[in-house]
Amino acid sequence: MEKLVIEGGTPLHGSVRISSAKNAVLPIIVAALLPETPATVVDAPELDDVRTICSVLESLGVVIHRNGREMTFDAAHIDRTEASYELMSRMRASFLVMGPLLAKKGHAKIALPGGCMIGSRPIDLHLKAFEAMGAEIQIHNGYVEASAPQGLKGAEIYLDFPSVGATENVLMAASLAEGRTVIENAAEEPEIVDLVTFLSSMGANIKGAGTNVIRIEGVKRLEGVSHTAIPDRIEAGTFMIAAAMAGGDVVVENVLSEHLKPLLAKLTEAGVKVVKEDIDRVRVISDGHIRSTDIKTLPYPGFPTDLQAQFMALMTIGSGVSTITETVFENRFMHAGELQRMGASIQIEGRKAIVTGVPFLQGAFVRATDLRAGAALTLAGLAAHGTTEVGDLHHIDRGYDHLVEKLQGLGARISRVGTN
Ligand code: EPZ
Repeated sequence: MEKLVIEGGTPLHGSVRISSAKNAVLPIIVAALLPETPATVVDAPELDDVRTICSVLESLGVVIHRNGREMTFDAAHIDRTEASYELMSRMRASFLVMGPLLAKKGHAKIALPGGCMIGSRPIDLHLKAFEAMGAEIQIHNGYVEASAPQGLKGAEIYLDFPSVGATENVLMAASLAEGRTVIENAAEEPEIVDLVTFLSSMGANIKGAGTNVIRIEGVKRLEGVSHTAIPDRIEAGTFMIAAAMAGGDVVVENVLSEHLKPLLAKLTEAGVKVVKEDIDRVRVISDGHIRSTDIKTLPYPGFPTDLQAQFMALMTIGSGVSTITETVFENRFMHAGELQRMGASIQIEGRKAIVTGVPFLQGAFVRATDLRAGAALTLAGLAAHGTTEVGDLHHIDRGYDHLVEKLQGLGARISRVGTN
């Protein structure tokens, strides 16, 4: 089995360039199903999740031309509207194909996404929205079958929770629906704004992206364009926390600091020096001494749930007690158990984790339980005394583009060993 081997105790120095955002590129690739002419994603991150969504599109009949990190999607001859369980079970975001297939082909049969490790993550808000737009939904034998033979109609849609995926699915469906759709309590994440930038440049008529009310006037057809996604704010935040935890002086390049305001504020509270050197460059300086501070995850613009595990790792070596509240997912503390095996002192009480700082973590063999937990354990290894080994690397490979090489470039003593 492959694993990371990390020798702790080496401060990080130098600069690291952040890749395009996984959670922007995935919906944008799915949206490439919509136009009549080919669409291109430039500088895509090299991730397993990107490879998976490409496999899903190819299984539907999309032709993909790859040229390094540039991919062109030709969806003119989609000949299937079914996505298999095998593909769906690899990645929940595959469910995003339902909106475009319904809008363009009037039918979609998608395997129900398995509940993943961080909670049940249902799709009820997606399905309720499609029904409001005139689709007929049936759930049988582990599949969701949706049909709208007369096409989708615009509707007033209220999301009980500002779900990122549900907002994205509805945005794509509504772009080609007949009439106006209004999404109330929409997600406001930067990745939503980037998807709308892409849809609008293809000819969609959308207003309000980045706010909690989005209006879409359906159009008849979209034309493919070329798009470069926004930088990955979660990858950027992961490297900033790495620098804070290991100590050192790191410049993070290709980052939009306004997408990370809560993290920058919390790192400053924790005693880390954060300098916005330019609109797309942030410098993080730390002596490794961390002040404990509390965080509560919230939908954007609150503290991102995708940085909760990494921030918990930081708080394990804090000077006092930190309370971490996870309000987005019901079961996103699996990394706590692995951190405790490294000597961390963490008490889980429902959606709260009480982290009492210890002087240092001890290296150990730990397993990634999900994508961001894997990152958190890697950061913990950078700061721990001794050697840390991180297993179940497939989680990390889903969402980090050359994580080991980027950390090596900052002076980390980390390597990937073993066989697949
Ligand atoms: C997206 O997942 C991201 N994934 C997640 O990032 C991220 O953690 C999440 O948004 C929240 O920011 C991608 O963009 C590919 P949600 P998504 O729908 O769309 C509940 C990572 O590490 N909900 O906003 O699945 C759900 O149970 C990943 O990169 C319903 O109840 O998230 C959850 O508790 C992990 N019914 C909450 O909303 C629904 O129909 C947030 O889910 C849909 C969601």
